[in-house]
Amino acid sequence: MKILNLGSLNYDRVYDLEHFVGAGETLLCTGYTEFLGGKGLNQSLALAKAGADVAHAGAVGPDGGALLSCLKANGVKTGYMKQVDTVSGHAIIQSVGGQNCIIVYGGANQCVDEAYIQQALADFSEGDLLLVQNETSNVPAAMHLAKSKGMKVAFNASPVTETMLRYPLELVDYFLINEVEGKAISGCECDDFDEILRQLTRRFPNAAIVLTLGGDGSLYQDGKTTVRQRAYTVPVVDTTAAGDTFTGFFLAALAQQIPVEQALDRASAAAALAVGRKGAANSIPTLTEVVKFMDSPAAE
Ligand code: RIB
Repeated sequence: MKILNLGSLNYDRVYDLEHFVGAGETLLCTGYTEFLGGKGLNQSLALAKAGADVAHAGAVGPDGGALLSCLKANGVKTGYMKQVDTVSGHAIIQSVGGQNCIIVYGGANQCVDEAYIQQALADFSEGDLLLVQNETSNVPAAMHLAKSKGMKVAFNASPVTETMLRYPLELVDYFLINEVEGKAISGCECDDFDEILRQLTRRFPNAAIVLTLGGDGSLYQDGKTTVRQRAYTVPVVDTTAAGDTFTGFFLAALAQQIPVEQALDRASAAAALAVGRKGAANSIPTLTEVVKFMDSPAAE
């Protein structure tokens, strides 16, 4: 199975703070670092590091060289990437004790048009997978085009927007969502994970749904199977890209026909390693590191 990931590429500007900035407040930061990131780029890296055959589609500006080099250096195919005149996307990340608040400026990520998506999908067909998040333009068109070719569609519904709730979500085969995204899509008002999953399953009976729950692990549900996966307990340095790491490792494992339970376990271990490191793209572990961690006493 070949995977095409149509996703964002961002320069992450991370500000270390003692608390998140409030309305009307000016704060001095205690540290500043720049990383490579973007949900799309992070997920492509995680897929490639986990052994998947992945190509990235998306757009960068004239300043996008480091983003492209990062994909290439990690084994992601970049032949479908497009360069536009608009500046590349960036994210402003407030970081407080390992937790973060993120503002994304779309830039070039919002210059992905339908004709380009059609071109990028030309080499993909039935049995291949399209992965999308919600940081690029024309996500609904990508879903329709991929489905018309008989491809499977995986959707990491992040970030949640009003318009996203009107996407053709019935075309999605795999949802990778956290609790906030699950609540928004299902319309469920409560905080009960099982109820959120039940409502999602009722609305999308043909999809497989992975609900990630941070320190509480994850829940998986498809037409036949329900799986509950624990999270590995590790010291939290920075949660940025942990969800992206989970998504990439999980989908790579499925593409390698690894059973769902093992795929979730591996994805969870990979995410645990990512939260132990600062930054986005650079925090994603290799498969060798993940396997070693799972065999170590630290994983018990
Ligand atoms: O999921 C983490 C990512 O979200 C960051 O790398 C940032 O760029 C935003 O896209």
